[in-house]
Amino acid sequence: MIELKKRLEVILAASTENTQAKLKKICQVLNTELPYFDWTGFYFRDGHKEELVLGPYVGAETDHVWIPFGKGICGQVAVSGETFMVPDVSAQENYLACSTETKSEIVVPIFKNGKNIGQIDIDSHTPNAFSEDDRQLLEWLAAKVAEIL
Ligand code: SME
Repeated sequence: MIELKKRLEVILAASTENTQAKLKKICQVLNTELPYFDWTGFYFRDGHKEELVLGPYVGAETDHVWIPFGKGICGQVAVSGETFMVPDVSAQENYLACSTETKSEIVVPIFKNGKNIGQIDIDSHTPNAFSEDDRQLLEWLAAKVAEIL
């Protein structure tokens, strides 16, 4: 995890690339280095609307380009501002399926100046894939990403 954090820090610190390119690279690194990460992406609040819009991601194309606040795991995190770990997505009533292969999910909010402005969303094809280590890594990353937004 320490090596991975260093790589992510290098991507975030690069002076030559724009923010979208950095976020895409972060998705690529996470999705490659952590084999149980099968879809890795960002959602951001769409202006002042109570809606999220899909940002850079790696993985299967998703129908959920816009997600209203309150809908699905992502929409719930937009409202709660708290990390949501879902060990078994089939047990969730308020869930938006991105792929039928997805078995578990973690969504971590991104705060900028105290405001919940977006999130990191990871889907796994493995049931109960995410640990406290993943939560800590992603919450650390969310704070780092906020610094460049
Ligand atoms: N599963 C998410 C929707 C986004 S896709 O996973 C990419 C949800 O329930 O909010």
